[in-house]
Amino acid sequence: MNTDNSYSNGFNDDKTVSFFSKVSPYAKQNIKETAYLIIIDSERIIKTVELNKNEMTIGKHGDIVLHSSIVSRIHGKFTEYMGEYYYNDEGSLNGTELNGTQIRIEKNVPSKKYNLGNGDVIKIFVPDNPSHPENVLIIFSTGSVSNSKWSYINLYNKASPFFIGRSVTADGLRIESVQASKIHAIIYRTSNGFYIADQNSLNGVAVNGKRIFENRLLSDYDVICIANTKIIYLSGYIIFNTSPNGVRLEINNISKTVNSNKHTILDNISLTINPCELVAVIGGSGAGKTTFLNCINGYEPATSGTVCMDGLNLYDNYSLLKSRIGNVPQSDDLYDYLSVYNFLKFTAMLRLPKDISKQERQNRINDVLEIMGLEEHKNKLIKKLSGGQKKRVSIAMEMVSDPDIFFLDEPTSGLDPETETSLMKQLKKLSSEIGKTIIVITHTLQNIHLFDKIVFLAPGGRLCYYGTPASALEFFNVTTISDAYEKVRNNTDYFVEKCKKYQ
Ligand SMILES: Nc1ncnc2c1ncn2[C@@H]1O[C@H](COP(=O)(O)OP(=O)(O)OP(=O)(O)O)[C@@H](O)[C@H]1O
Ligand SMILES: [Mg+2]
Repeated sequence: MNTDNSYSNGFNDDKTVSFFSKVSPYAKQNIKETAYLIIIDSERIIKTVELNKNEMTIGKHGDIVLHSSIVSRIHGKFTEYMGEYYYNDEGSLNGTELNGTQIRIEKNVPSKKYNLGNGDVIKIFVPDNPSHPENVLIIFSTGSVSNSKWSYINLYNKASPFFIGRSVTADGLRIESVQASKIHAIIYRTSNGFYIADQNSLNGVAVNGKRIFENRLLSDYDVICIANTKIIYLSGYIIFNTSPNGVRLEINNISKTVNSNKHTILDNISLTINPCELVAVIGGSGAGKTTFLNCINGYEPATSGTVCMDGLNLYDNYSLLKSRIGNVPQSDDLYDYLSVYNFLKFTAMLRLPKDISKQERQNRINDVLEIMGLEEHKNKLIKKLSGGQKKRVSIAMEMVSDPDIFFLDEPTSGLDPETETSLMKQLKKLSSEIGKTIIVITHTLQNIHLFDKIVFLAPGGRLCYYGTPASALEFFNVTTISDAYEKVRNNTDYFVEKCKKYQ
């Protein structure tokens, strides 16, 4: 592989070529991540460019030169700030789409900066012409947790149908996730072009953010989502990430009203949770934490606003996305008279694709037992477990189907401080080493330093802080976060306003 910062790969071989090797495995240790753009310009070659300066513009005259005729001289800008990457449109003529949403509101007026996550798709497109040859597609990619590898396959050099799934041969595209069915989808060739067809999979196929129910002719730049894998179609090629990780959650202006809209219990909250982050939701009792969690995990949708998981609207695509979500409510929903192993076995039989073999199922259960530190308890009846062990079984139950994002409502309530610390450390490990995005409501703050971010809710479901635990002390001007509760109660409006400016 070429080691220059920028190089090209022509569409001239059919091998699965890894575009990346230079990625940081140290995402969570606050070491600056390496970020790359994969650019498919009007020349139809795939370029990989490293974002190696704090600010880099794209455009005909940009730091990164784009050749397409529909791109403005300075079209957009990538900014790095404190290890996070942002993109904004610089007020271009044709605008920029980020994960399917047009972000440039007015010509000549720069858009706001959008925080980027691994696998985000940026498009500069001819309006209403998704397969125009001058269209430009850019994928943002970082090395977080495990190595991120983008590859491509030339479908013209493959047999038709081309198989995609959990256990297809090396000649197809293998998706290493129990969220995928054995043969999940096929792509077949006709005189009109390539079609994709869902093969009656358990968790479905989405094209450009919508689940498909019929065979669909692929257009250039279509973004296909299968389980946790994003696949981009372009001129008979598919470009895909072979080791995706975590999920990014964008929460846009969500509110919840009850009693015929008379009473607001969640008030216009917007924030973005990045892949593999461990996020705490805190605030006084009745502030709206459970309401917030149930809105952002799709369980009880918000009255207004949107929630996007990796660019897909969660409420519109819940049936497609629910297999990627693990939800651990406050009360454990376990069967007392089953052993831990049998309980997980029944869960696996219910939640995993029906085509999974007994051996695969056993392997998955054993992996989960190991990850959750439950091996030594696997033959015990659930009834006999301690509170902390039961909580770990509740998480293990959700782990069975290998979701990418977890929501936990007060998992440590009722646990002694030592057990709480051990559980929180386990959650930290799940996010930073296994690569899950985890959101946890908690009342206890002794382990708050383990979290990457805190969502602080004030009474009435109002956001009064979102950021790191360390910066929270400065934000509230306190020495411990517990001191912030009283301040927030007495000066709610002040902190809500300050938070709007801070974000
Ligand atoms: N369906 C509903 N109808 C009316 N009020 C509701 C409804 N759901 C929640 N509430 C109210 O909204 C507020 C927030 O409730 P929520 O359960 O989200 O709080 P919380 O922060 O999780 O509290 P706790 O820390 O005690 O669990 C509370 O005042 C609650 O009574
Ligand atoms: Mg609650």
